[in-house]
Amino acid sequence: MKDLRLKTAKTIASYFDKRKKGHVGNSGYRKTSDLGILFDVVNELVSRRIVVPDSTIFLDLGCGDGRVCMLMSYFCRWAIGIEVEEFIYDEYLYSKKQIEHFLRQNNLLPLPSGLCVLLGDSLSENTHRTIEEKTGVTMQDVDIFYTYITLHDVYAEMLRDKAKIGSYYMVYGFSGILPSYDGFSLLDPDVSGKRTVALYCKK
Ligand SMILES: C[S@@+](CC[C@H](N)C(=O)[O-])C[C@H]1O[C@@H](n2cnc3c(N)ncnc32)[C@H](O)[C@@H]1O
Repeated sequence: MKDLRLKTAKTIASYFDKRKKGHVGNSGYRKTSDLGILFDVVNELVSRRIVVPDSTIFLDLGCGDGRVCMLMSYFCRWAIGIEVEEFIYDEYLYSKKQIEHFLRQNNLLPLPSGLCVLLGDSLSENTHRTIEEKTGVTMQDVDIFYTYITLHDVYAEMLRDKAKIGSYYMVYGFSGILPSYDGFSLLDPDVSGKRTVALYCKK
């Protein structure tokens, strides 16, 4: 079962990595994470007990088409995503249908029930309330917050007030020169040695 879970997650990673968004033209604001890299990162975090399968609550603060949440849902109790753009949220709904079909066809595990992607603004209290209504999860319950550069400093400011001590802030997309955030310490500048993911811890 554990092997099938890993095989499913890895297959999802390569499915989406063949369909990257925002990597050409002027739509860089919606660039998608490389899930092959994140697959290695999350496995390292599992081995360090920072991600505890079936217990960890993960929140992608600007989730795009939800691909990071889909991957993380195989490693977490909740993998929650928020996307502010309606047309991108619609892409999530479409991708989810496609991937569900693809997983069935390939005898892989279905998407876990702890996957929840919502349309909304991550900075809005209303969105936080909607998450709580749908999942029972409050911002204080979240173990790992995620962003791919977008609003990284603005989110950090919000999390300084809202996140629990000891929660993690995982920032994708900086390499070498990393930002610092008030209220957070830099725990690992380069998780899994990919020069892509930095991990901060709320003080
Ligand atoms: C760089 S993309 C990253 C998508 C996804 N996290 C990934 O790594 O594949 C950032 C996404 O955040 C969304 N976004 C920007 N501001 C937001 C906000 N205030 N609340 C929720 N989503 C937001 C954008 O529309 C975009 O889809």
